[in-house]
Amino acid sequence: MNIRGIKSAMGIYLNRLCFTREVATKIPVVNRNKFPNTISSLKMDGWQIHNYGTTEELQFSTGLRMPIISNSTDCLVRINATTVNPIDVAMLGGYGSKTLNLLRYQYSKTIEFPLILGREFCGEVVQCGMGVDNKISVGDRVYGVVPLHINGSHAQYVVVPQYCLSIAPASLSNEQAASVLYAGLTAWSGLYVTGRLGSVCGAVSCSGGGENSRVLVMGGSGSVGSLAIQLLKSQKVTVYATCSDSAIELVKTLGADYVFDYKNSAEFEALRNYAPFDIVLDCTGQGAELAKNLNFQFGQYITFSSPLLKNVDKFGISFGMLKNITHFIQSNMKSLSGKGFFLKYGFFMPAPQGIELLTRLVKKNQLSPIIDSSFTFAELPLAFEKVNRGHLRGKVVITMS
Ligand SMILES: NC(=O)c1ccc[n+]([C@@H]2O[C@H](COP(=O)([O-])OP(=O)(O)OC[C@H]3O[C@@H](n4cnc5c(N)ncnc54)[C@H](OP(=O)(O)O)[C@@H]3O)[C@@H](O)[C@H]2O)c1
Repeated sequence: MNIRGIKSAMGIYLNRLCFTREVATKIPVVNRNKFPNTISSLKMDGWQIHNYGTTEELQFSTGLRMPIISNSTDCLVRINATTVNPIDVAMLGGYGSKTLNLLRYQYSKTIEFPLILGREFCGEVVQCGMGVDNKISVGDRVYGVVPLHINGSHAQYVVVPQYCLSIAPASLSNEQAASVLYAGLTAWSGLYVTGRLGSVCGAVSCSGGGENSRVLVMGGSGSVGSLAIQLLKSQKVTVYATCSDSAIELVKTLGADYVFDYKNSAEFEALRNYAPFDIVLDCTGQGAELAKNLNFQFGQYITFSSPLLKNVDKFGISFGMLKNITHFIQSNMKSLSGKGFFLKYGFFMPAPQGIELLTRLVKKNQLSPIIDSSFTFAELPLAFEKVNRGHLRGKVVITMS
């Protein structure tokens, strides 16, 4: 080992000494055995990309450097199951790279490549920073999400801040637990933070709310739509949902009060008889364009497909942000003066109060994820292709063996 190698190894060792509870407190022998303790064995398997593009850019490696705890509230988790979301496919193609690079650099001074994708997981905690409180301990089975600017869960290990984790509900398998939080937190933040469904309390606490509201979920059969329906029903909201013919039975079993086939024009027209809706939640990926074609009344149109990151990718940070502000004001002036609705954008938000609400609902059997299909870790590129083809009925899951 040369001088640089020795310095880097010392750095890793000192870092672990300063920040980790694995060193400061005595972890049980069983966990110590599972966690590679020597610096030379800090290697893992994972899928990385070194360029943006198609699934051909996904490269499997067995000798990747394991992520290390660098903030005192971080936890290192060994992954049992993870998922592939549309955002992974989009990020593989370079979506959001300008904004995310900026965040990445500010957060960890790291550069863009090599990049590990994957936004959610279920796994076992193998190491905790000194600032992690007693809600999470080494050996716990947890589920969690990875913020977009942190290297993701398509690997054997991931490091995330404690606020992104919770103890995984015992009733869920590893695959099910891995399938709840990314789409669930997207649905929660769209409805409660962007949509203010439960007023201020709904956004800042795990109280939920929105009883007696009327919400139309467009795209009720996908990952976000299927969890949005269950979340809303648990809060006594009247739920209307659209999906294609083949998914109607599934969407009814999720609890939607009224289900409409969006490909059947007569049925879609009939939505007018049930309006006005407080919120139309677009989980179809079509964005603001869809709102223009709706010939019924509603108060807010919340879409998860915003042009924000795309504009920054295309026009740069300053001009892109300016474009976003202008676009937002212009669209809202048009929608308010025309049909009288607010156009808003919803985003995935790794919020602990959202995780707490979703966990409570899982424990009460009011929310459970739908799994579209499962793949092994070695088959990850096939899972990307499946998500890319669309028409999903819930989640595409990756099982680590
Ligand atoms: N902004 C954010 O932070 C954020 C976070 C998560 C997701 N998203 C976005 O939100 C969207 C949904 O995500 P997801 O993970 O739920 O995707 P998904 O699992 O692929 O689900 C999309 C669903 O929409 C249905 N659909 C497509 N066109 C429709 C239409 N016109 N009317 C009704 N249903 C329609 C599809 O069913 P059929 O085509 O089979 O009918 C499919 O079930 C994606 O565009 C994703 O990129 C954004």
